[in-house]
Amino acid sequence: MNNQFEEYTLDKAHDEANVIREEAKKISGNENPSNSDYQKANDIIDKKLDNVYFQEAVYDKIAQGYEKATVRPLRKFSYNYTIEHYIGDLKDKKVLDLACGEGISTRMLHDLGAKTVHGVDISEKMIELAKKQKTPGVTYEQLDCMGDNFPKENKFDIVSGMMFIHYAKSREQIKKVLKNIYSVLEDDGIFYAMTVNPDMLKNGYEEYGVKITPQGKTEGSESLIELHDFDWNKFCEFSIHYWSKETYQEIFESEGFEIEWKNGVVSEEGIDKYGKEFWNDFLNNPAYVIIKAVKK
Ligand SMILES: C[S@@+](CC[C@H](N)C(=O)[O-])C[C@H]1O[C@@H](n2cnc3c(N)ncnc32)[C@H](O)[C@@H]1O
Repeated sequence: MNNQFEEYTLDKAHDEANVIREEAKKISGNENPSNSDYQKANDIIDKKLDNVYFQEAVYDKIAQGYEKATVRPLRKFSYNYTIEHYIGDLKDKKVLDLACGEGISTRMLHDLGAKTVHGVDISEKMIELAKKQKTPGVTYEQLDCMGDNFPKENKFDIVSGMMFIHYAKSREQIKKVLKNIYSVLEDDGIFYAMTVNPDMLKNGYEEYGVKITPQGKTEGSESLIELHDFDWNKFCEFSIHYWSKETYQEIFESEGFEIEWKNGVVSEEGIDKYGKEFWNDFLNNPAYVIIKAVKK
């Protein structure tokens, strides 16, 4: 990793976001730049970040955004609840949390009773933030989960990957991740992959602070995701890839997993707080799903 990247702090990321916003305004010629103006501005600014590994820089930029996301209703009353609801009791389990970010999912899995949870993420900044939260039984490490150097020595009862697999750019990358997971799972171990709902992704979405702009509807095509706060201020954006449920199903099965799809759910507490109406669209077309994949 070069020095320029090492020095890239979250404060600088905020400054940079402002520079991108100003650049986008210049491109659009008005105060409300479109997504493609933001994209163009991003490209211009990114070219100035010579030699920085682009994807890592993007994830590091959104690290602060993710902390902010923890206060939003989806995160509070649905995202975490969906994980708890489907994964349940992890008493005495050894868990590996892929793409752990700053460790929210990792610590949640630990709270579900896991004996140990090891969180790994490609982003140095995310791991840095995660390590600041010292939790006994929880460890972190920087690692590319789609890479060839995935350590195979330790075995796990459960592997999780929350909001991760949709970053795969090709079928080969999905296969690579699954091969890596298969090699570290105990027999009958389970991989839980939470991912943006492919059905929802195909049709777009603009609710609950999530704005999705599909760039295409073919397998592997990119979609731009923006997270907004209640005043519709964008605080984070990133792009992911569309893979249909059929494609996931076929690849998971070919790599030795038997899978079930689980729709995102909302806690009673969330329904009481915001009312049934607020959640209707989400429950009819959840923003995310869990793929429960059992090693066969
Ligand atoms: C949306 S965040 C999810 C964080 C966390 N799992 C959660 O639920 O809050 C996605 C994370 O995937 C990580 N990531 C993307 N590609 C990766 C890869 N090839 N290997 C490891 N982590 C990766 C990013 O750095 C980012 O922290």
